[in-house]
Amino acid sequence: MVPELASRDHVRKLIPLLDAVLAEAQMSRGDVDGIAYTAGPGLVGALMVGAAVGRSLAFALGVPSVAVHHMEGHLLAPMLEADAPAFPFLALLVSGGHTQLVAVDGVGAYRVLGESLDDAAGEAFDKTASLLGLPYPGGPQLAALAERGDPGRFRFPRPMTDRPGLDFSFSGLKTYAMNTLAGLPDDARTRADVARAFEEAVVDTLVIKCRRALEQTALPRLVVSGGVGANRRLRETMAAAAEALSVSVHYPRVAFCTDNGAMVAYAGCQRLLAGASEPLAFEVRARWPLESLQALDGAAR
Ligand code: KG4
Ligand code: ZN
Repeated sequence: MVPELASRDHVRKLIPLLDAVLAEAQMSRGDVDGIAYTAGPGLVGALMVGAAVGRSLAFALGVPSVAVHHMEGHLLAPMLEADAPAFPFLALLVSGGHTQLVAVDGVGAYRVLGESLDDAAGEAFDKTASLLGLPYPGGPQLAALAERGDPGRFRFPRPMTDRPGLDFSFSGLKTYAMNTLAGLPDDARTRADVARAFEEAVVDTLVIKCRRALEQTALPRLVVSGGVGANRRLRETMAAAAEALSVSVHYPRVAFCTDNGAMVAYAGCQRLLAGASEPLAFEVRARWPLESLQALDGAAR
């Protein structure tokens, strides 16, 4: 991806997209009570476009606006569902840019218990998919290929599970896949078997760390969100592990697991309802620690 080209595409597409969304919802700009926009973390060019449009539109419409943390969006996405989890809960955030385990006491009250020290889970999926000749972003296609793979042929390591702690490291699995492929003829069966072994290793590692975090915190509920949360094997394996611990698991529907505007609107809405609003000047951040967010009144610490 070329960040500058992506930003220019945002400029071209954002206003037509907003008009299309309002038309689909049978609403007009005058129906908008407030505007939430993503202010980070991420690529600064794309963030600037969203923030400038969001903030300017709010000024023009005379409504408040609020900056939203992208990962808070993922974290609160299951609140859009009918079986929304009550606070507190443990969240496993697994996207293309982040892998985090977060103890959530309320909106804005987040403790990061562990995170990836190198590649995020989705990034590892995408890089391994590319080794297997799949187009970017290859996570979903790698998962489809793994369905046809033989689970018994290769066994990949479960990184960092043999020592205490809740951090992750996934970059070694991509290297492991590369080395495994290097010694073998490049045929469809081998690619499927490698995909299967890779997926099982990532899923098992995520489940082992979640189980550990649930045991350590005694939190009664688990939320899994972010693009990799769409993965079928992860959902199945996590469901079995959570049931054994009498923990309920909550996922957003697949469309709200991967990046979407609804989750950002929801997070912003909670902050706007609590009275948050911002001055005309805005700031976007390439890096933004989740724990630095302002907790809403009533969110336990
Ligand atoms: O949350 P997301 O849409 O964007 C970021 O904030 O990064 O996550 C995208 C990531 C990509 O790496 C994509 O390959 C991965 O989620 N992904 C999957 C699946 N669906 C999306 N990985 C594995 N299995 C899937 N079914
Ligand atoms: Zn995301």
